[in-house]
Order: sequence, then structure tokens, then C-alpha cells
Amino acid sequence: MKEIIRKLLKEKHAVLLAHNYQPPEIQDVADLCGDSLELSIRASRTDAKIIVFCGVHFMAETASILSPEKIVLLPRMDAGCPMADTITPESLSAKLSELGPVPVVTYVNSPASVKAMSTVCCTSANVLKVINSIDAPEILMTPDRNLAQYAARHTNKIVHIWDGCCPIHDRLTAEDITNARQAHPGALVMVHPECQRHVVEMADAVLSTSGMIRYAKDSSCSTFIVATENGLLHTLRQNCPDKLFHPAAAHMMCSDMKKISMEDVIHSLETLDGQVRVPASVRIPALTSVQRMIAIR
Ligand code: 13P
Ligand code: SF4
Repeated sequence: MKEIIRKLLKEKHAVLLAHNYQPPEIQDVADLCGDSLELSIRASRTDAKIIVFCGVHFMAETASILSPEKIVLLPRMDAGCPMADTITPESLSAKLSELGPVPVVTYVNSPASVKAMSTVCCTSANVLKVINSIDAPEILMTPDRNLAQYAARHTNKIVHIWDGCCPIHDRLTAEDITNARQAHPGALVMVHPECQRHVVEMADAVLSTSGMIRYAKDSSCSTFIVATENGLLHTLRQNCPDKLFHPAAAHMMCSDMKKISMEDVIHSLETLDGQVRVPASVRIPALTSVQRMIAIR
């Protein structure tokens, strides 16, 4: 199937982008695996005619916002994100009428319609740079409360917090980390900022998914505990074959990130089924907030 996919990609002038949480076989056939920031940047720069996005719906939407002239395929339209579903344009409007006109920083794990109402987007890799680039004493951060609380602890700004979360990261406990440390003495603990505060505070490093890969590569340590969705373990082991990676807990699995199969990719490339498009009325304002984020380095 890998050969069939690579042949179809060539024939159709298509590129396959995969998030670091995708199943191993999808990562292995992809042109690029990455975190949300890297995938957004790559989607904005490719000259392919078709982008096959192996991830979840908001990621394919972001690719379409950045490249409206391209066909963006999400091989499973039901691959969504429960965190993105915690916010709508209506609920954001209601919050803004309560707070007044504060700048809105929106995590890319959000619907395009919410990005369109936001001042700037951020990812877990650039959240602090984005917040510190804003010339205002107060901001609203949506939709991840854990990422917002993490950001609030690293800035002098007043951060109003939307009460959404990733159910997978939010359920990791301090006890899970303690048990993993006991099982693997001497291992370094890498934690994603979508985890709760007490878990983040037990970390040796707080990083995005690709940040974890770079950190593990550069570290002199050979054993790591990985506190994020367990799909990243494959990426880490591919990148650092001489090092050991242990999951912080077996339950760190996102079913949405595991929906796309090799058969789905083939079907989507053959039929061009599963196209994601963002209407211009949403796309143009959403593009401004995504581009502002990409410009912040
Ligand atoms: P990053 O790869 O940007 O750290 O994203 C984490 C995530 O939850 C994506 O769904
Ligand atoms: Fe959404 Fe969490 Fe799954 Fe990422 S891991 S897609 S934030 S539910």
C-alpha cells in the first residue's frame, strides 16, 4: 500500500502531510511529519496541487486557509478534535460582550470560524512568543485552558481563559508521572502544555510534539518519559533509534488521530473524496490571524 500511495501522490502532484500523532504506517509514507506549526508552514509553501492532510479536521482547514487554490483532502471527514468543538463563533461573541474588546489569541486547535474572529493564532510551539508580541495588557486565550494557564504563568499580561481542553492530555495525572518515574529512574520527563498544571510542573521540559523530538535528539540522556499522545513514540523512536522512550500512561491515545488508514488515503487520492474548503467570508479573516502567527519567529 505504501508503494501505491507514493505512486498516486506522484501521478496527482500531491503532497502528504502527517501530524506526529498519526499511526506509524501513515507517518512512514508521508512527505513530512510535524507539529501543528511545521505543518501549517509547509502547507503554506508547497507547490503541489493537492495536499493530503493526515491529521484532524482543524489542521486540514488551516491548510485550506493558507492554500485556497489547492485541493485539501482529509481522508476521514469524521476525524475531529473535541477541544476544537468546545468553542463556536456564537459562544466567543458572548464571552467578548462580557469581557469587552480584548485581543483574542486562539490555539490552532479550533474551528476556522473562530480563527476568523481572533486577533492571532498560536500553537504549543510558539504560544509565549505570540502572547508577548501583543501590545495590550490583557488578552483572551481560547480554547485550551491548560495551555492558557501555562502561558499566563510566563507573561505579565492578564490572561482570560476559555474553559476548553484536550480530553486526552487533561486526564494525565501527577500519579501517572510518579509511577512512570519510579518505573524508569533517571529518565527525563517531557510534557506537552495541553496537560494540567500539576503535571506540567513535574516536567523536565515542556514542549510541542516536534519540540520533544529536537530535545531528545540534543540531550545527552538516553531515556525519556513522554507525556503526550502516544503516537509520538513512533516518531521519537524513528528519529532517535539509540534512545529509549516510555509513555507516561497507556491511556494517552486520541481516537480521532487514529482514524485515517492506508486504505482511506488511497481512496481519497483516487476519488478526491474528502475535500475540505473554507468559504471566503471565513477564510480571509482567518488567514490574517494564521499569517500573523506564522510571521512571529
Ligand atoms: P503539536 O504537535 O502542535 O504540539 O499539537 C498537539 C496536538 O494536540 C495536535 O492535535
Ligand atoms: Fe484534539 Fe487532543 Fe486529539 Fe489533539 S490529541 S486532536 S487536541 S483531542
